Amino acid sequence: MESELTRSIIAGIPQPVLIVGRDGRVKAANEPAEAVFGTGIAGRPYITVIRQPALLDCLEGTLRHGQPGRARFIISGPSSESSYRVLTSPLTGAGQGGALVAFEDVTELEQAEAMRRDFVANVSHEMRTPLTALTGFIETLKTSARDDAAARDRFLEIMEREAGRMNRLVRDLLSLSRVEAEERMRPGERVDVLALVWSASLTLRPLVEAAGAEIRIEGEPGPVMLLADPDQITQVFTNLIENAIKYGPPGQVVTVAVSRVEREPSLRGPAVRFDVIDQGEGIDAVHLPRLTERFYRVDTHRSREKGGTGLGLAIVKHIVNRHRGRFRIDSEKGRGSRFAVILPEH
Ligand SMILES: Nc1ncnc2c1ncn2[C@@H]1O[C@H](COP(=O)(O)OP(=O)(O)OP(=O)(O)O)[C@@H](O)[C@H]1O
Ligand SMILES: [Mg+2]
Repeated sequence: MESELTRSIIAGIPQPVLIVGRDGRVKAANEPAEAVFGTGIAGRPYITVIRQPALLDCLEGTLRHGQPGRARFIISGPSSESSYRVLTSPLTGAGQGGALVAFEDVTELEQAEAMRRDFVANVSHEMRTPLTALTGFIETLKTSARDDAAARDRFLEIMEREAGRMNRLVRDLLSLSRVEAEERMRPGERVDVLALVWSASLTLRPLVEAAGAEIRIEGEPGPVMLLADPDQITQVFTNLIENAIKYGPPGQVVTVAVSRVEREPSLRGPAVRFDVIDQGEGIDAVHLPRLTERFYRVDTHRSREKGGTGLGLAIVKHIVNRHRGRFRIDSEKGRGSRFAVILPEH
């Protein structure tokens, strides 16, 4: 067994650490290591503890030749996978020998990296579609459609739409990164949020009228004074009402129900709840957890046709987070959807 000093040293390290003796047995393990490999591993042959060829090879090299080594180590849990970077280093000194095996959890790092890659791939893909269309039509206008006035008008219209899509994409990306940058700074101004709901619904009037729909704002006479960033909260309700209209049937009623909650458990205090309720076809439960991810769309083709970039709900979520509120989506296929924005009163 290992000395008291060694034990206390590895006990102070927040990441998993093992000490393996020259005899190939685990001599000591700190608490994080026991959380990974189970308690009572001290005394067991390391081969029965570690069991992954890459790390076993590396550790063997350290024990035999006194050479430090690096390896990756993966632990598969029931629902997720953790990934470790492992360093094996020789222990030297009087009466020593053996190796120190130190684990560094890099799961979050790798997830962030994967997210960044996905994000860049998504942005490029979203940009490429309208760009391809634009380049194609420019080419056609320069050649075959040069003297065809009717075709020219039609093509220009499509080009305008595609350029508009790129414009919206860039605008939404900028607004997302701005909200993210400010996410830790809670807004300090008290504003009438109900008035912002009204102003969002007014901005959307053309869209609402084109769909023959109606917006009803119910529940509170107002004002509803809350700590809020007026532009961002207007954007939240614009995005939600716009979705309700875009993905709902013509002639529907979209309701924004405002209610005061004396004590919202998730916020541990009083709150105001804004439910945006539509009479659309609803969303299948499998999609709900991912709906606020960037670029996630239930029906990519349909959303694109409507000019969507799939960033609307991601923006909403970040804005609500910045306001220390909660954003919840309730929906059932065939039953319409309810998007709840819950903002704290204090
Ligand atoms: N009220 C709703 N009813 C049914 N589906 C909805 C509703 N709101 C959103 N969705 C689904 O969620 C997806 C993501 O919505 P989000 O607002 O993030 O993106 P978008 O509307 O496609 O594009 P953008 O808002 O950026 O223009 C939509 O593509 C749509 O499939
Ligand atoms: Mg949207």
